[in-house]
Amino acid sequence: MASNAGAIPCLAALLLLILAASTASAAEKETRLRVYWHDVVSGGPNATVAQVAQGPSSNASATGFGTIFVIDDPLTEGPNLTGSRLLGRAQGIYVSAGKDSLSLLMAMNFVFVDGAYNGSSIAIVGPNPTERAIREMPVVGGTGVFRFARGYCQARTRWFNASTGDATVEYNVHLRHD
Ligand SMILES: *[C@@H]1O[C@H](CO)[C@@H](O)[C@H](O)[C@H]1NC(C)=O
Ligand SMILES: *[C@@H]1O[C@H](CO)[C@@H](O)[C@H](O)[C@H]1NC(C)=O
Ligand SMILES: *[C@@H]1O[C@H](CO)[C@@H](O)[C@H](O)[C@H]1NC(C)=O
Ligand SMILES: *[C@@H]1O[C@H](CO)[C@@H](O)[C@H](O)[C@H]1NC(C)=O
Ligand SMILES: *[C@@H]1O[C@H](CO)[C@@H](O)[C@H](O)[C@H]1NC(C)=O
Repeated sequence: MASNAGAIPCLAALLLLILAASTASAAEKETRLRVYWHDVVSGGPNATVAQVAQGPSSNASATGFGTIFVIDDPLTEGPNLTGSRLLGRAQGIYVSAGKDSLSLLMAMNFVFVDGAYNGSSIAIVGPNPTERAIREMPVVGGTGVFRFARGYCQARTRWFNASTGDATVEYNVHLRHD
């Protein structure tokens, strides 16, 4: 009898745990969003990319290995930088981290300043092997409506000017969050 009496509170605690777990997963939201990311290298004072460190000059530097850039890139609703709504800024750094190929380490926050996500942000940290048509990077967290975010994004270059380095990249982001 004594062992049965102990089993009941145990079972109740287990049920509570299961309930709590299912409530948490039911409350989890899923968001897919698309923004266009603009690296503006040209334009002097209007540039949104600043090189802050240069890798050692050797043959390995054909890929710019060791070079660091800080960005404050506009994120727009459509692909046209001048003709489309500014939704936020991509603020952070990218580092040329490939010795033999142009592969970047991206570490940036998408900070939203308009639209449904105004005031919220997501943090992206991951590899960007630029020779690939689609580059996938993890979303490792977020703030505001994106608290507890995790997910991934896929980046695809939509436009690139090889003479200036200016680029427009489409980011498709898939998130799960609170
Ligand atoms: C910088 O942007 C301003 C405002 O859009 C524009 O008037 C100016 O011509 C731009 N400067 C350069 C060097 O592109
Ligand atoms: C760079 O590569 C060229 C051709 O392979 C070679 O002749 C040269 O010595 C290399 N320079 C350095 C600094 O490694
Ligand atoms: C981008 O928008 C600007 C301003 O609205 C417009 O003048 C330009 O033609 C557009 N460019 C393209 C490629 O649609
Ligand atoms: C975005 O949020 C900020 C801070 O709450 C507010 O000042 C601003 O007006 C908002 N912008 C838009 C376009 O709603
Ligand atoms: C690339 O930039 C150069 C210099 O601003 C400009 O002359 C050229 O038209 C641009 N090319 C494209 C495809 O936008």
